[in-house]
Amino acid sequence: MSNAEPILTLNNVSVTYKRADRTKLTAVAGVDLTLNRGEILGLVGESGCGKSTLGKAAVGILPTSAGEIRFNGTPVAPLNRSVRSRELLKLQLIFQDPYSSLNPRRKIGDQLIDGLVNYGVDAEEARESSAKLLERVGLSRSTLTKYTHQFSGGQRQRIAIARALTLQPEVIIADEPISALDASAQAQVANLLVELVAELGMSMIFISHDLSVVRQISDRTAVMYLGKMVEIANTHEIWDDPRHPYTKALIQAIPKPDGKGFLPLELPGDVPDPRMPPSGCRFHTRCPLAIAECSVMEPKMAVTQNRISSCLLNNELKEKGSAHVV
Ligand SMILES: Nc1ncnc2c1ncn2[C@@H]1O[C@H](COP(=O)(O)OP(=O)(O)OP(=O)(O)O)[C@@H](O)[C@H]1O
Ligand code: SF4
Ligand SMILES: [Mg+2]
Repeated sequence: MSNAEPILTLNNVSVTYKRADRTKLTAVAGVDLTLNRGEILGLVGESGCGKSTLGKAAVGILPTSAGEIRFNGTPVAPLNRSVRSRELLKLQLIFQDPYSSLNPRRKIGDQLIDGLVNYGVDAEEARESSAKLLERVGLSRSTLTKYTHQFSGGQRQRIAIARALTLQPEVIIADEPISALDASAQAQVANLLVELVAELGMSMIFISHDLSVVRQISDRTAVMYLGKMVEIANTHEIWDDPRHPYTKALIQAIPKPDGKGFLPLELPGDVPDPRMPPSGCRFHTRCPLAIAECSVMEPKMAVTQNRISSCLLNNELKEKGSAHVV
């Protein structure tokens, strides 16, 4: 994107979970990522690679173990949501499952209005702006007086989107916002998010394992593997000319049996245990292009020929005659 203006930056961010059995799991391991104002950035990678962890850390609801996150220049501190600063309320997360973010026992209107009233908006004004938001996401204002169980999955996700929008966010991190929905609702909700981002001048990180949707809606795409970023590029570049072997495997996709979308190529072996990530390049145990150095040297994200990826063959070993260059 030309004249890109960063709005959310992650600088060498790591997130480590301390598990009940006292082992530690570093789900995000030294990630750099920049979301630019006005853009939609797709974040993809296999299940367990750390996408949700990254999203939660980026909005400050999970503490980082290293690195720094800044939103509009302000450090994103891992605070309790109820005491988030006004500035950080402009940074909102939409969860995959609207059940987990909406309270089934409270009227939808009360849930929408709370956020506004807590921040000093007059109750009547809050009700009116919540009704308008519900209309904007394709629901009627009578939704205010109803409960979540009265709605379908797609409608509930629209309510969750409306709630995320009440405080007029500048950045939305949408974590698999459509994967729990049926096929027609998926397309509608994805389109709604794209429209809202443009209309309200927002920026969005769209986390999804559905590569075809990410391809359709994202300006850039970031690819993660086992807690690390492996490639970031304009979406059309990722699809037309992927540089990292893992990205290649992901997008050498095979059509789904129902003809709707694609499945990623089956890679040899299982995803390694993130508590004991492979030495060197974390992808070496499954990479079809791995060479001896890959189990020893750790590749870094680096720019080669205007493209950013972390593969020794693209970067560190590119000039070495013996290396097979991808
Ligand atoms: N609360 C937690 N405590 C300990 N480990 C966790 C916790 N949450 C996630 N993990 C682990 O961290 C790693 C990354 O999980 P995360 O949910 O971020 O992956 P993901 O890319 O979002 O996967 P998916 O596509 O399935 O949603 C996984 O190995 C997961 O088991
Ligand atoms: S560094 Fe080696 S193992 Fe890692 S992606 Fe590149 S070729 Fe494959
Ligand atoms: Mg997830």
